Amino acid sequence: MPLPRLAPIASTLAPSNHPYLNGAWTPLHEEVDVAELQVTFGAIPEDLDGVYLRNTENQIHQPLGRYHPFDGDGMIHQISFSGGKASYRNRFVRTRGFQAEQEAGASLWGGLADPVHLAKRPGWGAHGFLKDASSTDIVVHAGKALSTFYQCGEGYLLDPLTLETLGLAPWVPIDGISAHPKVDEHTGELMFFNYSKHAPYLHYGLVDADGKLEVYQAVPTPGPRLPHDMAFTENYVILNDLPAFWDAKLLERNIHAVRFHEGLPSRFGIVPRKGGEVRWFEAAPTYVLHWLNAYEDGDEIVLDGYFQEDPTPGPHADAPPGYEHMMAFLDEHSFRSKLHRWRFNLKDGTTREERLDDQVMEFGMINAKFAGRKYRYGYSTVTKPGWFLFTGFVKTDLETRESTTFLLPEGVYASEAPFAARTGASEEDDGYLVSFLIDENQGGSECVILDAKDITKGPICRIALPHKISSGTHAVWAGRDMLKP
Ligand SMILES: [Fe+2]
Repeated sequence: MPLPRLAPIASTLAPSNHPYLNGAWTPLHEEVDVAELQVTFGAIPEDLDGVYLRNTENQIHQPLGRYHPFDGDGMIHQISFSGGKASYRNRFVRTRGFQAEQEAGASLWGGLADPVHLAKRPGWGAHGFLKDASSTDIVVHAGKALSTFYQCGEGYLLDPLTLETLGLAPWVPIDGISAHPKVDEHTGELMFFNYSKHAPYLHYGLVDADGKLEVYQAVPTPGPRLPHDMAFTENYVILNDLPAFWDAKLLERNIHAVRFHEGLPSRFGIVPRKGGEVRWFEAAPTYVLHWLNAYEDGDEIVLDGYFQEDPTPGPHADAPPGYEHMMAFLDEHSFRSKLHRWRFNLKDGTTREERLDDQVMEFGMINAKFAGRKYRYGYSTVTKPGWFLFTGFVKTDLETRESTTFLLPEGVYASEAPFAARTGASEEDDGYLVSFLIDENQGGSECVILDAKDITKGPICRIALPHKISSGTHAVWAGRDMLKP
């Protein structure tokens, strides 16, 4: 039976040798629906009920400049589990940029690695000249999916079941929202921040469980900064001002070059969740792309994340000519990102820090019911040296400080693997990790389910996907209860 396919989109993308437009990063353009997927190994657990949503990057038109993988148009892939069965669909996010480029039949904006003059129209992002591709993260809040852009986009709402683009999230302020809004599944609240090139440069906001903007306040910094992620506890949010940001002199000429500012500390702004006075804490200089979790412990706020030992790595000598810097900035191994803990003492204003694990890893997931609360387990990814390609998962027990690992075969790459709680689970790790794989050996994709209690066993279930998907950055699990408006 032929697959129900949407009418093809217009594309002008020509073959190239770009390292991030080939292999596991080959853009996918078709959009399909599959009512029931074929299980190729094991069985879909009956107690897995909800959707896994994956945002991938898919360049559609011939790039105007040097394509960066974060420029690709956002496509959401959804696998929905219920009663031991799984369905699949995928859709481009119908952003304003996507629609304008479909009408024009060509790219209208340059990308992250390009000079600003390539943009043919005003753009988006803190940068100001990019296309908001809504291709970075996806979360589920107030019964809707929300896709986001790397550098402060508008935020698009989608139906989490049909993947229809519903339009812009109405509460998003003029300066947009960063890629990583945070949802507290206990309160239904969504917390976000944005950053820009104009004072006060950084804002924090909170949206209630009904989608109403309740808090929006400035968190002033000395200049434009580039925070990527935030964390929250039951009563606070943690924003950051880290010393890797745009060179101010070059920025005057509209050149967006990230420089590590020697001599500046890392600064953490702790804000009451419902808004109020910002308290700043200092720590060792670094850059952190993603936090794992945070919680309150007596007088202290505990924050776990991936400390980069080298936030501005030198160029990769063996990269294709022209891509040396881009390749270095897409490689966890060049940053040497390691799981790290900060403790901010609200009583005496001091910071304590410690390394939790010496392995290079990033892109961590937790049981979302433990977000902002004391927790025990983190599930990180490891990557292929030199590449932004996930090659396996590490489960860290933060109580014993022990870790276990599952590595994929050579040539097989994963997506972020969020934790999906088993229906009726009470223990923190009683559930599954769900991920999409791209198999460069066979030329296809599949969904795998791992037992979160013991990831070393490998997949307990493998499900064939109807096409080979592209790689991307983030994914999310939403239990069936999160899908109700
Ligand atoms: Fe991210």
